Amino acid sequence: MAHYFSIVSALLCAIFSLSHAHANGNSTFYNPILPGFHPDPSCIFVPEWDNTFFCASSSFNAFPGIPIHASKDLQNWKLIGHVLNRREQLPRLAETNRSTSGIWAPAIRFHDNNFYLVTTLVDDDRAADDPSRWDNVIFNAKNPYDPLSWSKAVHFNFVGYDTSPFWDSDGTVYMTGAHAWRVFPGIQQTEVNLETGETGDWVTIWNGTGGTAPEGPHIYHKDDYYYLIAAEGGTGLLHMVTMARSKSINGPYDSNTANPVLTNANTTNYFQTLGHADLFQDANNNWWCVALSTRSGPEYLNYPMGRETIMTPVTWNKGDFPQFSTVNGEMSGWPFPPPNLNIGGSGPFIDQGDVIDFEPGSSLPAHFTHWRFPIAESYQVSPSGHNDTLRLNPSNLNLTALNGNYAGPSGQSFVGRRQQDTLFTYSVDMDFLPNSIEAEAGVTVFLTQNHHFDMGVVMLPANSSTGPFPGTNRTLSGDHSAPIPHFRFRGISYTAVPEPAIVPVPESWQNDTLHLEIKASNMTHYTFSAGPAHAKSQMRALIDVSNAAVSWGFTGMYPTHSFQ
Ligand SMILES: *[C@@H]1O[C@H](CO)[C@@H](O)[C@H](O)[C@H]1NC(C)=O
Ligand SMILES: *[C@@H]1O[C@H](CO)[C@@H](O)[C@H](O)[C@H]1NC(C)=O
Ligand SMILES: *[C@@H]1O[C@H](CO)[C@@H](O)[C@H](O)[C@H]1NC(C)=O
Ligand SMILES: *[C@@H]1O[C@H](CO)[C@@H](O)[C@H](O)[C@H]1NC(C)=O
Ligand SMILES: *[C@@H]1O[C@H](CO)[C@@H](O)[C@H](O)[C@H]1NC(C)=O
Ligand SMILES: *[C@@H]1O[C@H](CO)[C@@H](O)[C@H](O)[C@H]1NC(C)=O
Ligand SMILES: *[C@@H]1O[C@H](CO)[C@@H](O)[C@H](O)[C@H]1NC(C)=O
Ligand SMILES: *[C@@H]1O[C@H](CO)[C@@H](O)[C@H](O)[C@H]1NC(C)=O
Ligand SMILES: *[C@@H]1O[C@H](CO)[C@@H](O)[C@H](O)[C@H]1NC(C)=O
Ligand SMILES: *[C@@H]1O[C@H](CO)[C@@H](O)[C@H](O)[C@H]1NC(C)=O
Repeated sequence: MAHYFSIVSALLCAIFSLSHAHANGNSTFYNPILPGFHPDPSCIFVPEWDNTFFCASSSFNAFPGIPIHASKDLQNWKLIGHVLNRREQLPRLAETNRSTSGIWAPAIRFHDNNFYLVTTLVDDDRAADDPSRWDNVIFNAKNPYDPLSWSKAVHFNFVGYDTSPFWDSDGTVYMTGAHAWRVFPGIQQTEVNLETGETGDWVTIWNGTGGTAPEGPHIYHKDDYYYLIAAEGGTGLLHMVTMARSKSINGPYDSNTANPVLTNANTTNYFQTLGHADLFQDANNNWWCVALSTRSGPEYLNYPMGRETIMTPVTWNKGDFPQFSTVNGEMSGWPFPPPNLNIGGSGPFIDQGDVIDFEPGSSLPAHFTHWRFPIAESYQVSPSGHNDTLRLNPSNLNLTALNGNYAGPSGQSFVGRRQQDTLFTYSVDMDFLPNSIEAEAGVTVFLTQNHHFDMGVVMLPANSSTGPFPGTNRTLSGDHSAPIPHFRFRGISYTAVPEPAIVPVPESWQNDTLHLEIKASNMTHYTFSAGPAHAKSQMRALIDVSNAAVSWGFTGMYPTHSFQ
């Protein structure tokens, strides 16, 4: 197709949070620490790399995948890059089927000057006992700030997920994981060679406390005990963190009588679905926990940002199980290291807003994301004759694609960023003259291929209109089948969505740059508006739509630009 799509600028307004210290030196901070789609966090503290904390989170079908955020002060978190940044590392991401497929629950660890990242590429449409559903992989890097340092995936056999490595004091390396629970629930473990992926026999070491789906295990060694942390209850409202311990790595593991050690189940807390925790120590040997949570309240209806990363202080006395502080929005905890913004890597700090001009010589910002692998040529920054634009080439598939699940290998033209604030304004300026019926470009609130709200400019017969552009009188032309450009809002979800709104683009704007805006002006609704870029006073709202239809599942929202 000959036509092109360019965005002159993309604007996002962010709300900043501040941290400050108590008089006694304890810190005050706000949850979530990694707002937006950053579930299943795993974090480490690495003194060898200038006392830096590194966190990894799940990315499902998003590419680049497995974001790494770093901080030197536990207050300012910066995206330093992505573990999965090249197709050759794990080509199978092109073929995942279902929006709940892709990268699940990474575990990041540092050992002997190497960073290790263990995760599972899941094909969630396959049977739980089908080994091909669970592609367990190990990546390693000497330098986490250098994308090319992250290795290709080393595969290892395990019929399960949430795998995490542990180095015993005698040098033996163990892998712990959640066995495919619909078959036999349980936390399993084996010895592993992290360079080759060779494993021994997997043995069940703990069955949890009886909650659904014991998963998300990690092992820590402290005061002569091996401590096993796990998540149970499923990743919904009954999610919880439980622990067990043993004097032997192989068990038997004794459950903590105080289980669950951390949960907001059966409370009215705004932070729900709390679970899937990891523990780490800072330079003062104080313990911290990260876990996932949704800002949904117990109603659990409006949470378009999905599962986010929260942090809470932990008190871990000698010989005892650790104690976790209750998770709220405003937190108090151990003293923080002094503020330090001197962190490498390519991405923004987590609470930074965007004003992006796509100037000549720049590349797509590091926090911009595709759905599975992009066709690189489809995204051109400042192509010849169009400085300060991003040109997208159309894909044949729309955002739903073949069956709402699969889209590979030809892909979808899509680039977006995570929604990280409850209230925001997102807008793009767009030049697009569709030249064939159903050719469409625009902005979308995209959760999965089965959950998205799209506002595009699309060529449709004039009699497709559901009404005039708001505030205008334009009536249908005489020839009802003559194609004209329309603004079209469409939603798709497992729950009710509004009927499509299809209105003619006012004639005088047809060759103008258009301004498309998505605004979350309250906690439950998005407003989609459009107008000419040169006269924003003419902007009109096309529709208000509840975010409940895009509050679902494992991922979180991307306000996005797309083209089909
Ligand atoms: C994807 O999954 C759907 C539904 O499970 C199935 O009909 C389809 O054949 C699958 N596609 C591929 C390419 O595996
Ligand atoms: C876990 O449950 C299975 C099935 O009930 C049982 O066979 C196994 O012994 C249990 N394992 C442990 C470590 O409790
Ligand atoms: C929450 O309540 C449910 C239903 O009563 C119960 O099954 C579950 O154990 C409770 N969970 C916690 C952590 O209290
Ligand atoms: C400081 O924070 C820790 C961890 O939450 C807590 O145990 C301790 O009581 C706090 N100290 C004071 C003086 O509040
Ligand atoms: C576009 O940007 C390039 C590189 O900065 C510059 O050389 C060129 O003059 C610009 N073109 C226009 C039309 O401004
Ligand atoms: C998207 O494309 C598929 C075919 O690939 C089509 O069945 C579907 O109706 C289209 N529409 C939407 C809203 O996704
Ligand atoms: C709409 O039509 C009415 C009656 O013809 C006219 O008075 C009014 O100015 C028109 N409004 C616009 C926005 O064109
Ligand atoms: C639009 O007009 C064409 C030609 O008259 C007709 O075939 C078609 O059914 C109409 N579509 C709608 C949605 O009314
Ligand atoms: C828009 O541009 C096209 C192609 O250059 C031209 O045919 C058309 O008349 C223009 N429309 C308006 C409203 O200026
Ligand atoms: C949020 O905005 C929508 C649409 O503007 C409105 O219908 C709804 O009542 C608002 N909700 C609250 C709690 O203000």
